[in-house]
Amino acid sequence: MNFKRPLILSLVLLFGIMAVSSACQSSQPYTYKIDISPYSKYINTESSEYLVLLNKQHTSGENYCPPDLISLDGSLTLYGKDVQLREYAAKATEALVLELHELGYTDIVVTSGYRSYARQQSLFYTYIAEERAAHPEWTEQQAIDKVLTYSAAPGTSEHHTGDCIDLISTSYVVLDESFAQNPAYDWLKDNAHHFGFILRYPKDKTNITGYSYEPWHYRFVGVKAATEMYEKGLTLEEYLGK
Ligand code: DAL
Ligand code: ZN
Repeated sequence: MNFKRPLILSLVLLFGIMAVSSACQSSQPYTYKIDISPYSKYINTESSEYLVLLNKQHTSGENYCPPDLISLDGSLTLYGKDVQLREYAAKATEALVLELHELGYTDIVVTSGYRSYARQQSLFYTYIAEERAAHPEWTEQQAIDKVLTYSAAPGTSEHHTGDCIDLISTSYVVLDESFAQNPAYDWLKDNAHHFGFILRYPKDKTNITGYSYEPWHYRFVGVKAATEMYEKGLTLEEYLGK
């Protein structure tokens, strides 16, 4: 009789359980530092409007414009610049950033929200030009393929929805993976869902989202959906089964 086989099977089972449980995490009860009551209606929406999927496969038309864009207060944005979001996402963002500031993460502000098709087009072409300048030996297609790992082509950016934000630190005004070293990120990754946001482009899901890790990009979907995605370790694509 082979005694090794049950041992190997047990180990496989144990590692399997560990792998599954590391992808799932239970949401801890949360006590808000700010008065959340003015924001409750917004963050707790269960409307499917906020579950719209925009990615490389699900695109928006050139003329799409979200219906209810409003500007964030300048105290919440980088250098006080104008950042627009849909009303519910804007209110949820206000709550999130005020909470971060209340917790002592006073360097965190919003640097990007809604982007029009034309704005995304301009960004996308700028990145292609930058990649070609940095790699003169590349063909244009190679430059485009590289850019597509971190920037959406016009019509495919989630920023067209007006329901997502890029956060940034005023002490390092570049969006790169070092945002994950900011102490605020440790809090964000486990608490953003209490404000209705998901980390949209996680490190371990690049094959599903189509984009490299973006620790700074958060998508508003409402607390219920965000908590379910957080607990089950799902991207929006997986949550929607698309
Ligand atoms: N950086 C994200 C993928 C965008 O360009 O929308
Ligand atoms: Zn973004």
